[in-house]
Amino acid sequence: MEKLDLLYEGKAKRVYKTDDPRYYIIEYKDEATAFDGKKKGIIQGKGTVNNKVSAVFFQLLEENGVPTHFVELLSPTEMLVKRVEIIPLEVIVRNYAAGSISRRLGLEEGIKFDQPIVEFCYKNDELGDPMVNNYHILAMKLANEEEINALTQQALRINQILSQFLLGKNIILVDFKLEFGRTDEGDIVLADEISPDTCRFWDSATMEKLDKDRFRRDMGGVEEAYMEIARRLGCV
Ligand code: C5P
Repeated sequence: MEKLDLLYEGKAKRVYKTDDPRYYIIEYKDEATAFDGKKKGIIQGKGTVNNKVSAVFFQLLEENGVPTHFVELLSPTEMLVKRVEIIPLEVIVRNYAAGSISRRLGLEEGIKFDQPIVEFCYKNDELGDPMVNNYHILAMKLANEEEINALTQQALRINQILSQFLLGKNIILVDFKLEFGRTDEGDIVLADEISPDTCRFWDSATMEKLDKDRFRRDMGGVEEAYMEIARRLGCV
């Protein structure tokens, strides 16, 4: 597969066309941003960790019947994916209180919810990815009712599969963000990435943070945390 024109450059990834219109190549970068791009930095080795960790999760989900855009790893920082049209929604699943829900609702970090919470945010950097509900999504024609239900059910299923898998690696899946895409046939598949950039991972014994919160909060040990996740998932 030949890598052709750069199609899109995001904060943490580049997407390239290939010589086959059905596929794109995603390249993961070491650059890191937080707080809507206001904080910037480099996390050495992050591109490799996020590429390999995402591949492990996508393969696990495919084995469990969840369709994803993942095709194969091409290099330490690149993967081949199916071309999809990204639905401009961030689907967030929360098992424990942390981050924005703690601030918004005054919930102490670490409180476990009796059942997972699913939230939708409108993917729009200028607006700061505001939270939206089903009515907003329908009114803005971002997805239809059937698709909203499919996104919710898929997100909850993904949560079950990943939470159980990660507990076996002594990792608590606190919360995470998903993005989905539509294939040419109109099917919805999981897209984007699943990595320490997009999930909160806590060590189940010590509750130590093993994710991007170490960068967001200047906690130090950022590279080590990403490497630890890669190690526990058998990527290094
Ligand atoms: O910041 P907040 O608490 O809402 O984030 C919830 C989860 O979604 C976290 O795991 C965070 O890493 C992820 N997230 C993301 N990209 C965003 C917003 C949140 O990956 N734009």
